[in-house]
This record gives sequence, C-alpha cells and structure tokens, in this order.
Amino acid sequence: MNARPAAAHLDEVYPIVPFEPVGGEGVHLVDAAGRKVLDLYAGHAVAALGYAHPRLVEAVAEQARTLFFQSNAVALRVRDDAAQMLADFAPAPLERVFFVNSGAEANENALRLALKLTGRNKVVAVEHAFHGRTAAAGALTWPPQKSWYGFPRTPMDVTFVARNDVVALDAAIDDRTAAVMLEPVQGLAGAWPLSREFCQAARAACDTAGAMLILDEVQTGIGRLGAPFGADLLGVDPDMLTAAKGLAGGLPAGAVLMGQDIARELGPGALGTTFGGGPVTCAAITAVIDTIRRDGLLERVRKVSAQIQASCRVGPVRSIHGAGFLLGLVTGPRAATVRDALLERNILTGTSADPHVLRLLPPLILDEQHAAQLAAALNDLDGDLDDATV
Ligand SMILES: Cc1ncc(COP(=O)(O)O)c(C=O)c1O
Repeated sequence: MNARPAAAHLDEVYPIVPFEPVGGEGVHLVDAAGRKVLDLYAGHAVAALGYAHPRLVEAVAEQARTLFFQSNAVALRVRDDAAQMLADFAPAPLERVFFVNSGAEANENALRLALKLTGRNKVVAVEHAFHGRTAAAGALTWPPQKSWYGFPRTPMDVTFVARNDVVALDAAIDDRTAAVMLEPVQGLAGAWPLSREFCQAARAACDTAGAMLILDEVQTGIGRLGAPFGADLLGVDPDMLTAAKGLAGGLPAGAVLMGQDIARELGPGALGTTFGGGPVTCAAITAVIDTIRRDGLLERVRKVSAQIQASCRVGPVRSIHGAGFLLGLVTGPRAATVRDALLERNILTGTSADPHVLRLLPPLILDEQHAAQLAAALNDLDGDLDDATV
C-alpha cells in the first residue's frame, strides 16, 4: 500500500498509509497538494493537542531559544515544573517522577525497580498485552515464546493470565511475584478494557503477596480516557505508573511515576538517562497538561466519545468498545479495508492487533463536528464494503 517509491535510506519496517502530510493544524493533516485529512490516529496517540497548538508551539519555541538542552547532571527549573505538573495530574500517592524518552524505556525502568526492590524474579502480565520492544517490556508483550521481540530468552519469569480472569490472576500472584503489569485499556490489542474488578483484584493480590502493581498508561494516560489516567477510572492506586505518547504532545518523552516509599529507596545512580527530562521536552509536558486542564479537554473527551459511541455503530461497524478517545470499532469487513476506505474519504484511522478492530486515538481537541463527520463517512460506506473482504 505504499503510495510512493520506497525512500532510499529508510528501513521499510512499517506499512505506510497512502497519504504524506507536510503540515497540520488542529485535528487536520495537509499534504503537499493541499488535501486535508481528519486525523483520528494522532501518530500512534501522540499528538494529544493536535497540530500547531499555539500554547504548545510557543512553549517549545520559547524554551528552545532560552536553553535547548541540559542533562540530569544539572538542576533545571523547567524540569521541576514539569514533574510538579505531572505529579499533580496523577493519582495522589504518585508524587515522584523519573523522566525518560519513550514508553518502553519507562516500562523497562519500572520493571527493573520492581525486581530490584522486591528481590524477586517473576512478573505477571495479561494475554494480548503490549508493553514495548525492549528486553523486559518485550517479555511481557503478547504472544510469548514466539519471539520475545527477537530476544532468545526473557530477563525474568513471566506468567500471562487471560484478560479479566480474576481466578487465574489470583492463582498467578504469589510470594515469588515482583510485579503485575496492566494496561487499563489494552491499546494495541484493539482497545479492550480491563474490568475494574480485575484491576482491583490485582491490587489486593499484590498487597497480600508483597508484589508491586504497575499500570502501563503509555497509551491510556494523559487524558486519553477522559480522566487524567486510567487509574482514576479504575479506582486503583498503583505502586508505579508509566506514561509516554501524548505526554509531551509529540516530542519523545516518557515518565515513571512512583510513591515516596519507592523513591526513598533510590540513591544516586539508581536510574539514568541522557535525554530524559531535557528542557524543551519538559516545557512541552507542562504546556500539554496545563492545556488539558485549562481548556476542559477531559470533559470534551468524555462528551465526544459518548457521541462517537452513540452514532458510529453504522455502515461496516458492528459494535464499539473502549473508553474516551481509545475506542475499538468492531468491523464486519477487515479493519484495514475500512481504514483504507475512510482514508479515501479523508479520515485517517488506525488498525490494531485484532484484524476486525479499527482503532480511534484522536487528538483530545476533537469536537462534535468531527465526530459527526466520522459517523457520516461510516454510514456512507454501507454497501461499498463487502463482507467478502473478511
Ligand atoms: C501500552 C503501551 N506500552 C508501551 C508502549 C511502547 O511505547 P514506545 O513505543 O514509546 O516505546 C506502547 C506503544 O505503543 C504502548 O501502547
């Protein structure tokens, strides 16, 4: 499905959609010919404020002019401010922040801390999870044994349990368990939510076994579910929470959030990174969270999500699940077929690991008019797409 000849020097590891943006504004991308596409995918859920958001652009430009980079070897006011902003946005016990560059790096560090501080070597994860492409995160990524993301063995013992199976979860967590890692809504799997009951059972079993509960909120966090984090919706306080993707609205950024009890155990050199917590990224983090709060974007996500769920079960869509702006649309034809047909109608959506789930991860600034445009386009597809493409 490549729309142009392969770029001569890039690894061809991604299937590329046939649209090449050169610019973006609000929730739209624009190509060189001026074609405008409504973006409901946000670059894998990263562009939380859409494109050319004035407050984000100004914060980044101003910081770039003032001090472009310094590492964690020096204190930076802009880093302190970002950590404060993030800790205030997160569930109350998570007061301490370690900034990194990506979701996988955040998960890798959270797992390393859990293994080290408990002195144990077993981790429990959920079938169909995606936690990243590095060694520890890859070991918790489904499917197991097939490749461990290309590594020959895992750095710890891993037990997978079926999604929302409380009995299996309770049986898997024991006094060898260092940590349980959960995505509140399993993103890449197809926006499948974990139940409150399952996540609360994980909290209780971790407390009993002396294990740590880590919520991977790389995809669900920073307002995407219509709450600051999935933890807020689940009523669960994790020992650690990881964030990335929308955190800096498009600059590479990740974070491990933890309580004082864990932070207290970390001496100098316990964690490290070169780029994490750089000043331009931190200015962006502050601008993103400040904008979500000031512009009431959490309410907007809840409202527009409800509209999509009520109006988009039309055309090729059989049912809708997920939460906020992490929605899975179950399609009769293959989701990739629906995605391609929507792109022809100037709407960009995403697929998932489930071939019949189309994934929506729009910028948090999406409004009612855009949701109506999606519903109309899906309705229009009825009849165009044939279930023979299943
Ligand atoms: C839930 C979850 N965890 C971790 C990751 C890995 O993040 P990154 O690609 O920034 O390393 C992703 C990426 O899609 C994700 O969705």
